[in-house]
Amino acid sequence: MTSLFQLEPTLGFLLFLVITLAFLGGVVFTGFRAKRPIHLTLVVFAVLSLGITIYFAERLGELYDLETAGMIYPVHLFFAKTTTAAYLLPVLSGIATIRNPVRKNLHRRIAFLILALTVVTAVTGTWMVMVSERL
Ligand code: HEM
Repeated sequence: MTSLFQLEPTLGFLLFLVITLAFLGGVVFTGFRAKRPIHLTLVVFAVLSLGITIYFAERLGELYDLETAGMIYPVHLFFAKTTTAAYLLPVLSGIATIRNPVRKNLHRRIAFLILALTVVTAVTGTWMVMVSERL
């Protein structure tokens, strides 16, 4: 039986990047509409989808000699690690908002910081792969 994880890395990566961005769009939409149960459900799906995207990104990276990309390689790794760790922040600020709605503004600012970091990570990662030599 063919499973999801047997997808060709480039296809799997692009597919799950688009799915993750769609889930994140839904997270922002439902956040602004104050649809809390759907907001939280979409957060779970976005994080799961992000995990699958990272899995395919790593498999994609194995097909290239990333060292040949030069400075963009450590720059991308920095953003990739920082962004992944920073996903904890909207979880903490989201819980803080449930406890006290006054914290909603802080949660929104953190959420947009995370979204911006996600875009920077995707752009630097794509750039890195595009300038690397394929093995
Ligand atoms: C990537 C993760 C997340 C993003 C991008 C995000 C984004 C947002 C945005 C844009 C808003 C609207 C803020 C406003 O109206 O000014 C919002 C509201 C909210 N979010 Fe999130 N959020 C995320 C994760 C979470 C998590 C993990 C929780 C809870 C554990 C949470 C709980 C809430 C709550 C309670 C509200 C207020 C809804 C209301 O007005 O009743 N969020 N979120």
